Amino acid sequence: MAIRLGDEAPDFTADTTEGTLNFREWKGDSWAVLFSHPKDFTPVCTTELGAVAALKPEFDKRNTKVIGLSVDPLDSHESWKGDIADVTGNELNFPLIADTDRKIADLYDMIHPNANDTLTVRSVFVIGPDDKVKLTLTYPASTGRNFDELLRVIDSLQLTAKHQVATPADWKDGEDVIIVPAVSDEDAKAKFPKGWEAKKPYLRVTPQPNR
Ligand code: BEZ
Repeated sequence: MAIRLGDEAPDFTADTTEGTLNFREWKGDSWAVLFSHPKDFTPVCTTELGAVAALKPEFDKRNTKVIGLSVDPLDSHESWKGDIADVTGNELNFPLIADTDRKIADLYDMIHPNANDTLTVRSVFVIGPDDKVKLTLTYPASTGRNFDELLRVIDSLQLTAKHQVATPADWKDGEDVIIVPAVSDEDAKAKFPKGWEAKKPYLRVTPQPNR
């Protein structure tokens, strides 16, 4: 069954390039990104894994652990590592799951048979400290993902988890945010002491509260 926002992220134990791990134990109280790629030794996937490795310090800053997955075996992941480093200049620095029996791919509905009946699509799940799914993305094999966008979304998820705000189109960390309509003007005075601009009664823009 498809995983929806707010669902509890299914737990699993997996063989990875960093040993066998239990997802919940590995994740702990952090945020996590679980993402699948279709196949080792393929061009787009090679660029993606290198891109995520390059951004690992940015994920760390956001208290977010990253874990990749494909249905290829561990020895394939191990030999592919060299190519990722050669091509992108970035060593694989996060665990890569070898989901050969497709147990996790099935749990997370990562195989879309009308696209490909054996390989995982490019799925992304962002999971919060409460183990609930906060974001899902699905890209086809032919389109590499933009991992800066993933960081941007994590910034929004983390901000909106703490403050009664939402982030507008194309928002980036540090920019103005929107006071959620559920907050009355009266309550907003206390919660947003920097004030706001009401572009419409339902669209109140305020400086990012944690800045
Ligand atoms: C790729 O990573 O380039 C790729 C993987 C599977 C199917 C098509 C492309």
